[in-house]
Amino acid sequence: MQDTIVIYKSKYGAAEQYARWIAEELQCPVLELDQVKKSDILENRNIIFGGGVHAGGIEGIDKFLKLTKKQFKNWFYAAHDSNADFQLGLYKPTKNIVFFAVGISLRDQQAREDLRYVNFDKKWLRQAECYFLDGRYEPEKVKGGDKTVISLTLKMIDSMGSQMTESQRLLKERIKNGCDLMDRSQIKPIVDRIRGDQPQE
Ligand SMILES: Cc1cc2nc3c(=O)[nH]c(=O)nc-3n(C[C@H](O)[C@H](O)[C@H](O)COP(=O)(O)O)c2cc1C
Repeated sequence: MQDTIVIYKSKYGAAEQYARWIAEELQCPVLELDQVKKSDILENRNIIFGGGVHAGGIEGIDKFLKLTKKQFKNWFYAAHDSNADFQLGLYKPTKNIVFFAVGISLRDQQAREDLRYVNFDKKWLRQAECYFLDGRYEPEKVKGGDKTVISLTLKMIDSMGSQMTESQRLLKERIKNGCDLMDRSQIKPIVDRIRGDQPQE
């Protein structure tokens, strides 16, 4: 698809795999975040950015947003402006910026709200469109500082005791046993969104 680009930041390959599936489906280029130039953002109408979730943060999101900070702000305001023309579909934003986050415990609403709260913290970003995809966790591949992050995460979850949420319980179980929840069919809403070029509710 012309005018479309997929950008990803991935530590263990899951977000990269989804980015490649989406690009294959939309027949558009796919780039690792470090290879992206400002012009890639300016020249494409549809920009899809995805990253793996580590300790609640979407990998690479700050760097991605810094690429063209001023324009991003304007595009987001334009896309989510509550003016009547936009609501009636008379006005189309010049850019579609769509995010996807890949994690292993992002199914429930609370986990998604928490993730949005942490990653889309600026006023102009609050309504950012984000899709949540299931990734994988292979304990034997976790390296360096991530091992510490994981043991702190497990400690934090255990300290919740009876207050532990369902999503935290799942995260703990999946970290302990490993899991592979990757599924190509999960890209469908993103692909449909870009093909349809209509903002989501
Ligand atoms: C250090 C670390 C922290 C993680 N924290 C979370 C988390 O907070 N929530 C979650 O759903 N998954 C978490 N995960 C699981 C990853 O999101 C999952 O493995 C994902 O597939 C990683 O994407 P990537 O392979 O593109 O890096 C964590 C994984 C690691 C290694």
